Amino acid sequence: MSETGKPISRIDGRMKVSGKATYSAEFNQPNMAYAFPVRATIAKGTIASIDDAAAKKEPGVIAVISYKNALKLKPLDMPAQMKAGAAFLGENLPPLQDNVVHYPGQFIAVVVAETYEQARTAAYKLQVRYTVEKAAVDLKTELPNSKKPKMFMGEEAQVHEGEAAAPLAAAPQKVDHTYSTPAEHHHPMEPHATVAVWEGADKLTLYDATQGVGLTGAIAAYFFGLKKEDVRVIAPFVGGGFGSKGLWLHTLIVAMAAKTAGRPVKLALTRQMMQTNVGHRAATFQHVALGTDAAGKLSVLRHHTDTYNNLTQFFEPSGKQSLVLYKAPLREVTYNVAHLDRGTPTFMRAPGETPGTFALECAMDEMAYQLKVDPIEFRITNHTTKDPMKGHDFSSEFLVDCYRIGAERFGWSSRSMEPRQKRNGKYLVGYGMATATYPGGRSAASVKVMMNSKGDVTVMTASIDIGTGTYTVLAQTVADALGVPVDRIEVKIGDSSLPAAPLAGGSQTTASIHPAAMEAGVLLRKELIALTINDPDSKLNGRKPEEIGYASGKLFVTGDEKKSDTYLNILSRAKRNEIEACATTLPVSGAGLTVPSALCTPSQTPPEQNSDTKQYAFHSFGAQFAEVWVDEDFGTIRVKRFTSVQDVGRIMNEKTARSQIIGGVIFGIGAALMEATEYDKRWGNPVTRTLADYHVPVHLDVPPIDVHFIGKPDPHISPIGARGIGEIGITGVSAAIANAVFNATGKRLRDLPLTPDKFF
Ligand code: MOS
Repeated sequence: MSETGKPISRIDGRMKVSGKATYSAEFNQPNMAYAFPVRATIAKGTIASIDDAAAKKEPGVIAVISYKNALKLKPLDMPAQMKAGAAFLGENLPPLQDNVVHYPGQFIAVVVAETYEQARTAAYKLQVRYTVEKAAVDLKTELPNSKKPKMFMGEEAQVHEGEAAAPLAAAPQKVDHTYSTPAEHHHPMEPHATVAVWEGADKLTLYDATQGVGLTGAIAAYFFGLKKEDVRVIAPFVGGGFGSKGLWLHTLIVAMAAKTAGRPVKLALTRQMMQTNVGHRAATFQHVALGTDAAGKLSVLRHHTDTYNNLTQFFEPSGKQSLVLYKAPLREVTYNVAHLDRGTPTFMRAPGETPGTFALECAMDEMAYQLKVDPIEFRITNHTTKDPMKGHDFSSEFLVDCYRIGAERFGWSSRSMEPRQKRNGKYLVGYGMATATYPGGRSAASVKVMMNSKGDVTVMTASIDIGTGTYTVLAQTVADALGVPVDRIEVKIGDSSLPAAPLAGGSQTTASIHPAAMEAGVLLRKELIALTINDPDSKLNGRKPEEIGYASGKLFVTGDEKKSDTYLNILSRAKRNEIEACATTLPVSGAGLTVPSALCTPSQTPPEQNSDTKQYAFHSFGAQFAEVWVDEDFGTIRVKRFTSVQDVGRIMNEKTARSQIIGGVIFGIGAALMEATEYDKRWGNPVTRTLADYHVPVHLDVPPIDVHFIGKPDPHISPIGARGIGEIGITGVSAAIANAVFNATGKRLRDLPLTPDKFF
């Protein structure tokens, strides 16, 4: 009877393809005005003067807001922000508060007008003069001034620094190379947009394209000095995020504009602004060295990353997987972080692992080739079943199965160790593989389930569907908890006034909200059971709760299904129009990003449940396989087929899960072959400005992608057994492709993306 796991199509799919799903920019309000921001044209300096006379004369202009006349926001105060749950501001820069410019494209003013076109026209009439300072615009140039951060998100950032040199010098076999990855932008289909509506002076509603309604609400409440419950954030549909849809300055700016204008205001970012104002993945130089003994056992692994940041502490953590994969007695993982006057780097799909697995997994391939060992066998020789740093067992781990099953499905056995052995016409054909991995996080969450007298069920939680399938999979879980069909279940998410849930990030939505959804469904069923067994008019009267089974909208005596009572009849006899239950599930403290306000009722303290990071290490694993065809005359690479085998715990919906992995692999093909944001070395501004020059894969670039799941539930993460799946699909992909290019051509390309110029 289980709905969970079935490959059912998205319950919101019809709304999406028929244009009925409402995205943030579509929440038009009566009397709404439009905002268009003005961006800095220098990388660093101060605004000397702003002349708004010409802009104000433009038709329809309502207000021109800059640091000279903007509302004062609460200043930055990290401890206070942490306490208020408002710490994850995309960049630590409350907008329009002073005249300092930190990067090209920074929002320095906003024009509010009756129409979008009027606001946009007037914005370009603003006369801004600057005092220009010398800017840091190039990573290589700035590396000598870089710093070694002590911590990364609560973890030690410099691990065993300096300790790898001696064992590397002593290792009989070693490889030591530098790999580079470029700056990349998320570019979700839906650009960021916000509609801000004030009700009086202290109640704010934001229709905002965000990955976390609770997070956005908390941050807005903090900076405007409002009570959290007085800021409501609504985002029923979000057209992709990939880490870029935290809270960025435009959301605060449009709320400021709406307050100043005394009207609802909409601000929708242009595709160009998506290159400067909502974060990006920073470029890296990664130095990876491996040493093995003569038998090919790793004795030492060193992974050093050079990267940069700007207005937050975040930097690209590309050493992460090098603390998780393989058995090696010593691993040194370190970072140098320079400062660049460039839009602020942030989380982007598998932050760390995406560039990090490129470097580590290419180095593993280089070592296997040097040892003349098959790359899969080399990995199996060095496989670890324990977290190499903490020594804990992995909660559930089938990586070797991923390698073996992947090799079988892909046809790995027909690969030759030596490059340049396979041809198809003028193309050189190569096979490559790599390991995929991503942490299995989980946070506290609350879910409410309600049934009405018609038997329709509503599921409510302040989670988000960023295109992943949250609506659908939640309905499946509650269908199973109650024994009602999926089509009787309505899912309400994307509203901060609903029971709290974590942001849709870090691949933890499914792992976090499903234990709560299941628990809420079970609580509701228990209430229905209590009603029927205590009702003298029920055929189940006097039975014990544990005797009662459930299916198809009714309760029955297990083993004697003729003795049954429908949910409709139970509610009707009890004269109840509706019945509801809310549940909070709380992983053992220390796991994931906890949501302190997640409780259904603040007085209750639910027991901590699973996800004990003191006992287990929670990670997902996978194996990626690529076949490439290379045209040596032109240096072009085509990925001709791809196999991805994933060990991500229980699969909640075969179809949406597969779709996540396919999306991740395509994103990885983009990273491998074409994606890069280029910056002008004189002025520091991005010169890739649209999807015409920031290349992403098109249909012709995407081969058939074979996805297979191990599907074994993780017994330790939660009673549900599912780990997240949103990010692991991209990891290892660019390495598998680069390794296949070596197998095809004998050339090692260590600088992404693998554009034709790299061959010559
Ligand atoms: Mo993800 S980069 O945590 O949206």
